[in-house]
Amino acid sequence: MAVASRVRHFLSIADLERDELARLLDEAARLKAAPPSGGLAGRTVALIFEKPSLRTRLSFDVGIAQLGGHCVYLSPAEVGLGRRESVSDVARVASRMADAVVLRVNAHETIEEFARYSAVPVINGLSDLSHPCQGLADIFTIRERKGPDLHGVAIAYVGDGNNVAHSLMLCAAKTGASLRIATPAGYEPLPRFRELAAADARSSGAQVLIGNDPAAAVTGADVVYTDVWTSMGQEQEYERRRRAFQGFQLNAALLARAKPDAIVLHDLPAHRGEEITDEVIDGPQSAVFDQAENRLHTEKALLCWLLGGQR
Ligand code: CP
Ligand code: NVA
Repeated sequence: MAVASRVRHFLSIADLERDELARLLDEAARLKAAPPSGGLAGRTVALIFEKPSLRTRLSFDVGIAQLGGHCVYLSPAEVGLGRRESVSDVARVASRMADAVVLRVNAHETIEEFARYSAVPVINGLSDLSHPCQGLADIFTIRERKGPDLHGVAIAYVGDGNNVAHSLMLCAAKTGASLRIATPAGYEPLPRFRELAAADARSSGAQVLIGNDPAAAVTGADVVYTDVWTSMGQEQEYERRRRAFQGFQLNAALLARAKPDAIVLHDLPAHRGEEITDEVIDGPQSAVFDQAENRLHTEKALLCWLLGGQR
């Protein structure tokens, strides 16, 4: 039987109200300016991952340690979610021992099923559909560089309409930013995320536009974002995608269409020479390593919010 609880999970940016997102980002800024040493004392967070990770694993592990908590990492080979043991049994066992679970999964349905059976907060550490922890760090970095009021800030996203794009769309829509997405035809974000973003945009004043022209998306932008063309789990599509995404590389010529003070974002890992050139990712406009560091601060704020009762 599923757990009937009032536990808050973080499976999607859509799980946050607009004012909750704003408060969480403010709290992350406070934690970045003055890192606390407590907050998770006596608490254990389990990381259960079906896919590899550098940033997500490291930022949660380090952040939990900085807050005085304990982290247990279970690698893709160890748990066998839904193979060695049913997802619902893993969820029930994990929630008897851990105070929260960060899950990285192949299929988003796995995390939804896990959350139905978990008596403790479940955090989406990436699924095929969304990457909300990345979205928090992305919008935090944009606020840090462009100011807290994102109305009128133009973000261009060039590349695949994937998990990272979905979470960015919802963040932009909740914060009032203007987001122009350019993907090859057939690689646009899924309709359900477009609908969620449109609903938030109506109340925040954001604009989320989706098209297929990278130059039009980037022209005049304050922020230019890209992600890999082939995500984890899509490796068999590599050649087809490489051909489909020709013309969508973030290179110096494309970046030159943005504002002179535009920043460049990439969630990493980057496939240098494919979706982004060395010149751009290592160039003076790149904010990608600040963006990576900001995973730590935003996830600490998220953990304190979910586990510390500060809502
Ligand atoms: N950006 C990100 O989530 O990186 P990892 O896959 O290394 O965790
Ligand atoms: N879209 C990428 C993000 C990696 C952090 C993937 O899913 O592989």
